[in-house]
Amino acid sequence: MAGAAIFLMLYNRVFLQFKHNRAKLAVSVLSLLGMLAVSALAGYIWAGYRSLLPAVAVLLAMGTGEGLRLMRRRRCRGSAPVADTHHFIRLMQPLTTLDLAVRRYRIPLPGWPGGNFRIVQLSDLHISDRLPAAYYERVADEATAAGGDLLIITGDMISDLQYLPLLAPFLRRLQARLGVYAVLGNHDWWSDPIAVQSALASAGVVWLANSYRSLPAANCARVRLGGCERPWSKGLAPWEAPPENPSEPLILLTHTPDNIFHIARHAPPDTLVFAGHYHGGQIRVPWLGSLLVPSIHGRLFDHGHFVVHGIHLFVNAGIGAAMPRLRIYCNPEITIVDLQGGGGK
Ligand SMILES: [Fe+2]
Repeated sequence: MAGAAIFLMLYNRVFLQFKHNRAKLAVSVLSLLGMLAVSALAGYIWAGYRSLLPAVAVLLAMGTGEGLRLMRRRRCRGSAPVADTHHFIRLMQPLTTLDLAVRRYRIPLPGWPGGNFRIVQLSDLHISDRLPAAYYERVADEATAAGGDLLIITGDMISDLQYLPLLAPFLRRLQARLGVYAVLGNHDWWSDPIAVQSALASAGVVWLANSYRSLPAANCARVRLGGCERPWSKGLAPWEAPPENPSEPLILLTHTPDNIFHIARHAPPDTLVFAGHYHGGQIRVPWLGSLLVPSIHGRLFDHGHFVVHGIHLFVNAGIGAAMPRLRIYCNPEITIVDLQGGGGK
């Protein structure tokens, strides 16, 4: 058990970040075997009760870490969705790869005169022909039908360059009043970021990179929209904190929620950060949650709404399924966030 716990920690925090799938698989299998061998050897050398001591020490340390993370998670936990098409776990239907959930949150901004402003988020499309074309069409149509002022995509358009031709037709189905905006994810940066950027441009999707722009809302109010491409972007100017402008709420797109503490040090209170990357764990255990999350924070922010130092963080569970190409008790998701300013609509 102690060996398995160490393996899970290494897998979540290190191996899952590897670019090459074969290297990831090889290192994972070797380290798992290594952990099992070391555990067996320890049992052999320290026969009897003494063999339990290192295992108990490891399990205590891991258990304490998990307990502290649970407390931290409770402190950061934001609001539950006001509407969720998949609120209940359907125990008899574990395979949820195509079972799209739409989750809607409401965030009051009483000091902002901009009325109601709707943001629709997609993430981690991982477009491929391994999932049915009709599924991606339904996702695009539902995201457009949500009637967003903004439609945002938080990275991982593709994970395999051969499926890039499928991306632009999907993106062309997406519409929102002020347009569709995106940042790239690790898989986009690892495959061919230039090709992904040109697919975005050909479909009229604005790639934000590390820049900011100001967009109109209702009642002459405005919002600021920005991107944060840390840590995979190469050749981009580094991400910089937004200039102070308390009259415009800041909406920030970033692929990995691991950026949240860096952003929270520089962004104003009530900033809304949208992220993906974790796929909600992709395989979840009912009432226990995710097991594998590619994060330096373990499964602290695996999915949902969090408030970190006054900053709202929305972590979307993604649309596609990569490595493995299935989801268990983990629905793909469209996130809708309604900002409610004091101005009404
Ligand atoms: Fe992804």
